[in-house]
Formats: sequence, C-alpha cells, structure tokens
Amino acid sequence: MKSIPLILIGCGGVGSHLLHHIVSCRSLHSKQGLWLRVAGVCDSKSLILAEDLLNKGLDDSILLETCRIKSAGLSLSKLGDFGECRVFNHTESHGKILDIASQLGKTTGLVLVDCSASSDIVEVLKQAVDVGCCVVMANKKPLTSSMEDFEKLFTYPRRIRHESTVGAGLPVIASLNRIISSGDPVNRIIGSLSGTLGYVMSEVEDGKPLSQVVRAAKSLGYTEPDPRDDLGGMDVARKALILARILGRRINMDSIQIESLYPKEMAPDLMTVEDFLGRGLSLLDKDIQERVEKAASKGNVLRYVCVIEDSKCEVGIQELPKNSPLGRLRGSDNVVEVYTRCYSDQPLVIQGAGAGNDTTAAGVLADIVDLQDLFP
Ligand SMILES: NC(=O)c1ccc[n+]([C@@H]2O[C@H](COP(=O)([O-])OP(=O)(O)OC[C@H]3O[C@@H](n4cnc5c(N)ncnc54)[C@H](OP(=O)(O)O)[C@@H]3O)[C@@H](O)[C@H]2O)c1
Ligand SMILES: *[C@@H]1O[C@H](CO)[C@@H](O)[C@H](O)[C@H]1NC(C)=O
Ligand SMILES: *[C@@H]1O[C@H](CO)[C@@H](O)[C@H](O)[C@H]1NC(C)=O
Repeated sequence: MKSIPLILIGCGGVGSHLLHHIVSCRSLHSKQGLWLRVAGVCDSKSLILAEDLLNKGLDDSILLETCRIKSAGLSLSKLGDFGECRVFNHTESHGKILDIASQLGKTTGLVLVDCSASSDIVEVLKQAVDVGCCVVMANKKPLTSSMEDFEKLFTYPRRIRHESTVGAGLPVIASLNRIISSGDPVNRIIGSLSGTLGYVMSEVEDGKPLSQVVRAAKSLGYTEPDPRDDLGGMDVARKALILARILGRRINMDSIQIESLYPKEMAPDLMTVEDFLGRGLSLLDKDIQERVEKAASKGNVLRYVCVIEDSKCEVGIQELPKNSPLGRLRGSDNVVEVYTRCYSDQPLVIQGAGAGNDTTAAGVLADIVDLQDLFP
C-alpha cells in the first residue's frame, strides 16, 4: 500500500468536505493501492496533529469528529479530549507544520493542502516547497499575490496542483496544461467564472431588473453576504490572473482591467449593504437594461467574462453571440471557451458547476491522488 501523508490547512466548507470524501473513498483508494494519511488539520486558531503521524495519521473517527466540531462552530482544541492527537495554538502552528514538512519532505514526502481563504499561508507553502513537499490549493490567494511567490511555488511544477482555484472541480487547469504541454498555442480564453454573475446576466437577459435579480440571488444564497463582493469582479479577476500566469504571462493583479458592476460611490466604505440593496442597486437598473436591449438588437447577449488574449487580460461585461457556448449559458454554471490552433473555429468548451463545497473538495481530492507517483 502506498501512503500519501498530508496536512490540511483550512477546515471550512471545502476542507470539511474534503475530509468526508477522504473517509468515504477509503475502499476505492485501497483497491488502487492508496492510503491518504491525514497527519494534521488546522484552522485559523489551532493545529491538531496525529500522535503517530509517521505511520498512522488521524483516525477516521477523529476526521469525522473534526467535521462535526467545525460545522457546530466549535474549536478544534476540543479534539484534544479524544487522545491520539496533539493540539497546538495559532502561534505555534506554522512552525510545527514546517518542522513536519522538513522531516517528511526529505523522506516519504508530504502534501500541504490549502483549503483556507488566507494570504498568510503563502510563506509556509513556499518554505514547504523548498524542503521537498507537494502543494495542493483551492485557495487562490497564494497564486495571485506577487509574481515571485507564484514562480517560487512552481519551482517544481510536478509537485503543485490547483485545479479547484478556477471553476472548482471542473478540469480547466488540467485541460489547459495538456494543451500547453502539446505545444498547441492558446490564442484566446474567454470564460464565465462566477456562478453568481452567470446567473445575474442570464436573468437580466430575460428583461428582469438588475436590482430584483441581485436581491433574488442573495436570498437564494448565490451571493456573498455583501453581493458587492461578487459584483465587483475581484474574484473573477483572481481566476483570470491564474489562467494568464499559467499561459506564461508575467503579470500582476494591477495589470488586469476590471469592470465593476457598481460605481465607486456605492463602494462598501461609502454605503452600507442595506442601502446598496435598498436604493443603490435600483439606480443601476436602467443602464444595464439599455445595454441588454442594444445587444439583443444585434442578436447578442451580455455576459460577465474574463478575456485573455495576446497581452490583454480583462474582466467585465462583453457582448457575445447568442448562439455561442457562452451565449447559450443559463443559470449559475461556469463556461470556459479555449481557442487554440487545434480548437480554432470551434473552441474547446468546459462547462459545469463552478462552485460548491462538494465539487470543489472533489477537485482537491483528485489533485492529491494525482500526485501519487511522487510517493514511495
Ligand atoms: N466554496 C467554494 O465553492 C469554493 C470554490 C472554489 C474555491 N474555493 C476556495 O477554497 C477555499 C476555502 O473555501 P471555503 O468556502 O471552505 O472557506 P471557509 O468556509 O471560509 O473556510 C476557510 C477555512 O480556512 C481557515 N483559515 C483561515 N485563515 C487561516 C490561516 N491563517 N491558517 C489556517 N487556516 C486558516 C478558516 O479557519 P476558521 O474555521 O478558524 O475560521 C476556515 O476553516 C477558499 O480559498 C475559497 O476561495 C471555494
Ligand atoms: C459549505 O459549507 C459551509 C460550512 O459547512 C456551509 O455553511 C455552506 O452553506 C456550504 N455551502 C454550500 C453551497 O453548500
Ligand atoms: C501558545 O502555546 C505556547 C506553548 O504552549 C504558549 O507559550 C503561548 O503562550 C500560546 N500562545 C497563545 C496566544 O495562546
């Protein structure tokens, strides 16, 4: 049996689902000769480590208890009561993770799995790469800060996976990497990479006012608590930056042109969420409606997309043919069109749910399993 040791960093929606998937895939993995050994789990406050992390890892019952404790909003330190594991506080946790990374990096290998939403963790990840560890990320932040951080993390490209950073579990990164490896030049990527904005744009296409659509999306739980976090386009821009960098563009966030769906005077520091939802949003209805109608008169629809082409990397509303993969998009699916030499007239199209704890965690799990050949 081949054992893949890992430490999970961040145990919220995605991290907890990952632990569930690991436990429920035990028999599948053992048929494949694999054992995912969870040496430790940490959140923003504590780290728990298996007593016998070299051989056994945390027991499945403890992993499930971890999920239960986190979903109840309790502290991981409660797990200390179960025995078989040691608990460390936040001050100690990064140092402790690096101790294990340098120990295991030299011998059996170790995967650090970043399911946090934090930018603090990049220092730990970079040092772990240096001492021979693998890194799997759902967290976009380590890949969207400086170009130096990005290149450092990719020092050994075979040891890093981050499928779930773009389009959750959809095979966007894997498909792109295959195209790149085959020498097929990527001429253009255009993608709807926000489930929220995909939903919003297809609803306004039907003539509904933007304000009504956003309020409905919020009550359906499609948006962040403050919908401006979605409407501002920052999350899409992070994904665009990751795609552009994979294509070899050495660019930073500030070279991406981002169109926000709300004006500066409605920014969170100037207007409360309640005011924005109550009166701010309605002021935007007319403009969007006019743009929708203008596009429709030409047989086009509006989509909120990222476009990566030549030296350009833009995020915002584009007019697209109604009869194209993106034009046909309805609801909250993500759609990515990739144009290359091999896919020139008709693009390669990747479509499906681009968010959700379950699919995101499934993408992370597949990334971990994909590293198996690097383990003895
Ligand atoms: N959910 C999705 O559909 C989706 C899709 C694609 C990508 N992602 C990405 O996946 C990541 C996780 O998403 P999520 O929805 O699971 O977020 P979440 O529920 O907010 O969970 C984040 C977890 O990270 C922990 N954390 C925060 N700062 C930390 C630090 N400095 N060190 C260690 N742990 C830290 C948090 O600890 P506490 O519990 O103590 O707060 C929490 O357990 C995010 O980067 C997100 O962008 C999510
Ligand atoms: C993801 O998991 C978190 C924490 O368990 C939960 O609050 C949230 O509702 C889940 N999201 C979805 C879309 O299921
Ligand atoms: C963390 O634990 C260490 C060692 O047990 C202790 O010295 C330190 O005061 C703790 N820090 C916090 C913030 O609790």
